[in-house]
Amino acid sequence: MSIVGGRPLNGTIAISGAKNAALPLMIASLLTPERLTLKNVPSLADVTLLGRILRNHGVDLTIDGKRGNPAPHLGETFHLTARDIVDTTAPYELVSRMRASFWVLGPLVARCGEARVSMPGGCAIGTRPVDLHLMALKALGAEIDIDGGYVVAKAPRGLKGARVVFPKVSVGATHTLLMAASLATGETVIENAAREPEIGDVAECLIKMGARIEGLGTARLRVQGTDHLEGAVHTVLPDRIETGTYAFAVAAAGGSVELKGARKSLLETAFRTLAKAGVAVTENDTGVRVARNGGALEPITVETQPYPGFPTDLQAQLMALMTKARGTSVIRETIFENRFMHVQELARLGADIQLQGDTATVRGVKTLRGAQVMATDLRASVSLVIAGLMAEGQTTINRVYHLDRGFERLEQKLSSCGASIERLVG
Ligand code: UD1
Repeated sequence: MSIVGGRPLNGTIAISGAKNAALPLMIASLLTPERLTLKNVPSLADVTLLGRILRNHGVDLTIDGKRGNPAPHLGETFHLTARDIVDTTAPYELVSRMRASFWVLGPLVARCGEARVSMPGGCAIGTRPVDLHLMALKALGAEIDIDGGYVVAKAPRGLKGARVVFPKVSVGATHTLLMAASLATGETVIENAAREPEIGDVAECLIKMGARIEGLGTARLRVQGTDHLEGAVHTVLPDRIETGTYAFAVAAAGGSVELKGARKSLLETAFRTLAKAGVAVTENDTGVRVARNGGALEPITVETQPYPGFPTDLQAQLMALMTKARGTSVIRETIFENRFMHVQELARLGADIQLQGDTATVRGVKTLRGAQVMATDLRASVSLVIAGLMAEGQTTINRVYHLDRGFERLEQKLSSCGASIERLVG
C-alpha cells in the first residue's frame, strides 16, 4: 500500500459494524438449532475465515445482498443456522489463523457435551494464553485435557452453573463463559467480567435468543441457564476501534470528518484523550465529527486499560499521532506485553521513541519522512497508515493483508476524504 502524506482529510466516513462483536455473535449461532440473523456484519477477512470454521461445524451460512447491495456501508446480513453440529473439532489449519475462533469451544461443549479445539494463533502481540477460558469451563464442570496441541473439553452430562471469579479481565474468557453459561443448568455468576461494549452486544443477542442475563455493562454478570436457546435477529453495534482509528487519522492529517454511525459513548476515554491533544470532537444526530484545523498537537500521558479505560487496540494509532506532538508523550501498554512492534517501523519514518519495559516515551518531531515499512499485526499496520498520512513524501507499507483482517475498505474510506492512498498490486 502506498500513501503520499501531507493532505488533510475532509468529508464523511461510514463506520462499519464491530469486528469484535460480529465474531462472537457469529459463534453464538452454535448455541441454537434455529436461525440467527445478524445485520450490519462488516466485510472482513476474519469474518470470512470464521464463516469457514462455522461451516465446518455444520452451520448453514447464507449472506444477503452480496451482489448489487446498494448500501455496502451498511454491512451485510448473515443468516446462520446450526441445526445439527456435524463436527465438534476446530482444526489447527483454521484456528491458528485467527485467535477468536478458539471461542467456539464454550458453545460447542455446552451444546454437544464435547469439543476439540486447536490452541489458537492470531496476532503476534504477546503470549496470549487461554488458561482463563479453561478455568471458566472447568468451573462449569467440563473436563479439560490438552492433547496434541488441542484442547479437548468434555461434559457428557452437560454444564452446570457456578460462581466464577476471574483473576484478570479477559474479553475472550468472558465471551466463552457467558455463552457456555447460557446453555448450562442453574445459575452462573461471573465476577470481574470484561465490560467491553461488545460483551454487552453479545449479551443482548443472547437475551433475544432466550437467555436470562443480568448486570449488562457491569463487572458482575448473572446468567440463568436454559436447555434451549432460540433464533433471533440482531444488529451488530458500530466498531469503536474503527471509529477511534479514523478519529486519530483526522487528528494526524488535519481537516474535519464526520464519522457516520459512530457512537461517542462507546469511546469516551479515547475521545477525551484526543480533546486533551487539541482535537475537536462533537457528537450529532448521525455520528461524531472530528476536526483539527491547524492547531498544534499537545503531548499525552496515557496507559491502556480494560474498558472503559483507553483501549489497547488504539495504542499504536495514538503513538503514531504523538510522533508529531509538541513535546513528550508517555504511553504505557498494560494489556499485552509485546504490543510495540510498530515502534521500530515508526522509527523508520523518523519518529523518536524510546522503549523501556511496558512504556514508550515519544518525543514529538517536526517532520516524518516517507519510507518503506512493514505491517506486523492488525492494529500496528493501521498506525503506519496514520503515520504515512502525516509524513512528507511516499510511505510504502508491506504485508497489508493484516489490515484486511480488521478494516473494511480502508483505502476507499480514506481516499474519499482526500487522502492519497492506494493498494499496490503484486
Ligand atoms: C480481545 C479483542 C482484542 C483486544 C483484547 C483486549 C476480540 C476478537 N479481540 O482479545 O482486539 O485487543 O480483547 O481488549 O474481541 N489472558 C490470559 N489468559 C486467558 C486469556 C487472556 O492471561 O485465558 C490475558 C491476555 O494475555 C492479555 C489479557 O488477558 O494479557 C487480555 O486479553 P483478552 O481480553 O482475553 O484478549 P482477547 O479476548 O484475546
